Amino acid sequence: MKRLTKCRALASLLLWAVALLAAAAPRERLSINAGWRFTMGDPPGTSASLRYDVRPEVTASEDGKAADAVPQAAALAAAAQEQVLKPWILPSGNAFISDPARRHRRPAQEPQLDVAYLKPGYDDVAWKRVDLPHDWAIAGPFLETGPYGGVGRLPSWGIGWYRKALDIPASDRGRSIFLDVDGAMSYATVWLNGKLVGGWPYGYNSWRLDLTPYVVPGGSNMLAIRLDNPPESSRWYPGGGIYRNVWLTKMAPIHVAHWGTHVRTARVSRDSAEVSLEVAVDNDSRSGATVSVATAIYALDEQGTRSGQPVAHIQPQRLQVAAGASNVATGSTTIARPRLWGPPPTQHPHRYVAVTTVRRDGVGIDEFETRFGIRDVRMDPDKGMLVNGERIALKGVNNHHDLGALGAAFNVRAAERQLQMLVEMGANALRMSHNPPAPELLELTDRMGIVVIDEVFDVWERKKTALDTHLIFPDWHEQDLRAMIRRDRNHPSIVIWSIGNEVGEQYTGEEGAAIGRKLAAIVRQEDRSRPTMTAMNYARAHMPLPATVDLVSVNYQGAGIRSNPGRFPEFRARFPGKMIFSSESASALSSRGEYQFPVTGALTSSVRPDAGGDWNTHQVSAYELYASDFGTSADRSWSAQDQYPYVAGEFVWSGWDYLGEPTPFYSSRSSYSGIIDLAGFKKDRFYLYQARWRPDLPLAHILPHWTWPGREGKFTPVHVFTSGDEAELFVNGKSQGRKKRAEFEYRLRWDLVTYEPGGLKVIAYKQGKEWAVSAVRTVGPAAKLDLVPDRSEIAADGADLSFITLRVTDLDGNTVPMAKDSVKFSIEGPGEIVATDNGDPTSFVPFPSTERPAFNGLCLAIVRGKPGQKGAITVRAQAPTLQGANVTLQAH
Ligand code: GAL
Repeated sequence: MKRLTKCRALASLLLWAVALLAAAAPRERLSINAGWRFTMGDPPGTSASLRYDVRPEVTASEDGKAADAVPQAAALAAAAQEQVLKPWILPSGNAFISDPARRHRRPAQEPQLDVAYLKPGYDDVAWKRVDLPHDWAIAGPFLETGPYGGVGRLPSWGIGWYRKALDIPASDRGRSIFLDVDGAMSYATVWLNGKLVGGWPYGYNSWRLDLTPYVVPGGSNMLAIRLDNPPESSRWYPGGGIYRNVWLTKMAPIHVAHWGTHVRTARVSRDSAEVSLEVAVDNDSRSGATVSVATAIYALDEQGTRSGQPVAHIQPQRLQVAAGASNVATGSTTIARPRLWGPPPTQHPHRYVAVTTVRRDGVGIDEFETRFGIRDVRMDPDKGMLVNGERIALKGVNNHHDLGALGAAFNVRAAERQLQMLVEMGANALRMSHNPPAPELLELTDRMGIVVIDEVFDVWERKKTALDTHLIFPDWHEQDLRAMIRRDRNHPSIVIWSIGNEVGEQYTGEEGAAIGRKLAAIVRQEDRSRPTMTAMNYARAHMPLPATVDLVSVNYQGAGIRSNPGRFPEFRARFPGKMIFSSESASALSSRGEYQFPVTGALTSSVRPDAGGDWNTHQVSAYELYASDFGTSADRSWSAQDQYPYVAGEFVWSGWDYLGEPTPFYSSRSSYSGIIDLAGFKKDRFYLYQARWRPDLPLAHILPHWTWPGREGKFTPVHVFTSGDEAELFVNGKSQGRKKRAEFEYRLRWDLVTYEPGGLKVIAYKQGKEWAVSAVRTVGPAAKLDLVPDRSEIAADGADLSFITLRVTDLDGNTVPMAKDSVKFSIEGPGEIVATDNGDPTSFVPFPSTERPAFNGLCLAIVRGKPGQKGAITVRAQAPTLQGANVTLQAH
């Protein structure tokens, strides 16, 4: 008896000690990207029991629907006769439902599932070994026929399973353990040790699941994730799989809540700024507690590391948190002479970090970092966007989430390269079309000083494709919208919240506006400091939808869609107090280096057979005068903007080419609308935008190239993009005349130049003074290859990349503009060629192929170092009859 009491006492002492240790163990955030097992498809006969919900039947597939087509009424799903998993998954979003009465209760019974993959002992050695981020569709092969152009002709839909054994040490007993998924496409359902934990349907959001009740510390815990990506669920390439980072986050039971901090800045000036911070603290333990919450604020350096001593403190606040509940500590401080966040080149993106410590009885039990910036942003109806009092014209682009040949699988360096090239062009703004991005992309925009529109949905209740997110909108819109804002609200780069893109509710009058009002109200509850928008290609100023949001953001309507007149004045008259801008402009189309004749004399033109488009090769002319039927050339869209000085700027459709939506040739794999092609090569349009967006950069860019065997004696129009205002063109030294840009003109054109081999030269002038000179010449036949890496030193971390451009050149080293030679890449040393591309929207060579034809002289190889393996990596390129090339990189 005595012994038993002793034993019990000892056991409770042990438990107490473990709990104490768990309570004091510092928060850990562990990457669990490495070493997953993956397979496609369910075990036979189990799919019906694993469904999130019943889906409507899709009877016919559609491809190539115009982007401005009218969205249709929602499709209704058949009522479920059998079990669906939705009732167990809905509670995963409860933290984002504000009305407690509407939160979901987990059913009392567990779902009856007899699925081999869920059994911890199931042997998955035959599955593929993958590391995350992973996109199951990007390797192809391309689906060369069928209605798949819209989604990039890659097999992104289907069911995919991921399994990984998590080693949870015994010392984790008593800690709270969460699974943090930055993005999984889509309808994720998660099991731990065979027990259903929960899930998240929307593929673009980040989400957290509490694993604590299912974890068995002291050994291996089997995590299984099932994704079910519907066909017909997207207008562009969605990718498939766990395509962003995944983390295991462990902490004491009393801790800063998920996305639980909210920084606000007020009364911002060069002299001082008020910083207030809300910290939500969760108590997952069984007893109430009193804690103190204190914060120190540090400056961050350019790399984002803490520098020096704290610049301010938020004094400790006492907070009582009941068991199983949360409470919020609010504090504030003043920072003297703050280093403000603002976009270069006139401002600098300075940042700070708030380091919050939660203490109990004087002992630190959690520490949490919140990065932020101090800036004052106003959207002024007359002056446009003011950042720290300075007018910053919005020089923005829209980008989808894919990273070209790397697909949807997020990679920091690939995203950084996209942004660096946009900045080089003079862009200062990015719209996340049409969904929340990877969190690391926002870290980049913060660091680089790029202003951002964070957008949550492309679809509300009305559908654009048969099985798109209209199916989950009624159940999930609140959770998805709040999740985006709570995750992203501390990023200084975000300046606008977008609640939707060209939603079908533009067409449904008051009924649609009611949804807009509901979403805008949610945004205001989460963050009052930024305005709301919804991108409108159809809604007119007098319709109900535009009134529901704070800004007027129109897609293409500024220049006028199809035969409609430009509508800036109409919106301005109706909403004199709201800032107006183009959330999508242009939608100009071209294939890099594909010049077609004759060239339209108009300012803009739709693509038609032999008028901007080649119906045999499926390429669009690179004269940069052609556009989608509802869009316009850049020139035309600027002439519309510039007539109204109150227009705050634009977001071009699109910055980079992307997978899918290959208007006007749906037989292709990728878009024609990018200013930069899918491989990252600049189209001529790059220089058109650079000339406008960087007026101080001396620039004169000539198109087309001047190697046209067979065109001798034919008219070959020469256009010049310049930041000057006047230029003179010479063909083999003979002047073709000096031309001046008129008001609302953005290029200089000599349309009656007769081709003769030799050279073109242009001298550009600005205010009468010589400003920039450039030349192109007729090149010789292809003779050699040349390799140019964007970076010759990379980190040996298994993620960092070098993008190597291959040029096909003549004997003198000039790029041969129409070369299509087939190139073979090989590699030696601790690296691998992850993908190749050439920017040709019609190419069906799978991205992992190390053999690829050049497209108009260029080709790309993407090289990654192997984790932990340092040393020299040599990449070689060979092509029949040409002199090969090699280049050596260093992995550190
Ligand atoms: C817009 C739409 C975009 C894209 C674009 C193509 O109407 O918002 O998502 O489809 O057209 O130009």
